[in-house]
Amino acid sequence: MLIFAHRGASFEAPENTIAACGRALDAQADGIEIDVYPLEDEWVVFHDRYLARLTAHEGRLQDFTLAQLRSLKVFGQHPIPTLDEVLDFVGGRCMVNIELKGADITRGLTRHLRRAVERAGFQPQQLLVSSFNHHWLKQLKEDHPEQSIGALTTSCPLSYALFASELQAWSVHIDVDFVTSEFVVDAHQRGLKVLVFTVDEPQDMLELKRMGVDGIFTNHPALARNVLNGLYV
Ligand code: G3P
Ligand code: MG
Repeated sequence: MLIFAHRGASFEAPENTIAACGRALDAQADGIEIDVYPLEDEWVVFHDRYLARLTAHEGRLQDFTLAQLRSLKVFGQHPIPTLDEVLDFVGGRCMVNIELKGADITRGLTRHLRRAVERAGFQPQQLLVSSFNHHWLKQLKEDHPEQSIGALTTSCPLSYALFASELQAWSVHIDVDFVTSEFVVDAHQRGLKVLVFTVDEPQDMLELKRMGVDGIFTNHPALARNVLNGLYV
């Protein structure tokens, strides 16, 4: 079962920072999940639409200039990285799942992905773009059919994973509260990987492994590694 560090190893370092990515690599995570917003000609790595939870500033991320945002610190200490900075830092040492939060995906996302392959040492299949907005994924897939995408859901739809196969996704990412064996079987029959978020409890990790899911997103990849290796008692 693949272990994705959710927002980096965000149990150990502030989420979506280079420090959290470093802790994820230390934990030998198979992948790192980050959240991104487009801002000017860059993509910035941040989860919330508003800045207040993570920085000392109020207001909406997309109302800041890139220069202003780059001067802020997460919890007074950690810069908000750009997508390129994270990809350069990870450098192909594990997968990166880029979750599109606010998107205008014509805004050069694929330029950054291509750069990661050409200059940062990634294999194309190590880069997985996901979103709850399936329209963005559809557009991305139409423009770049070779790009691996992951379709996110917080529900267990009546048609199970049909929406993800219609998008020609590589994977379907489902909330731990709603994943069922039936959903996993249906997704697998469609040739989709099933990745489950956000899984921090050992009991859930073991149950999902028994259910046959292909991966989890966890804030605590070191714990997950121990649990899945049978080292957690
Ligand atoms: O990509 C999985 C998970 O990160 C989706 O929810 O809100 O934590 O970005 P959220
Ligand atoms: Mg996310």
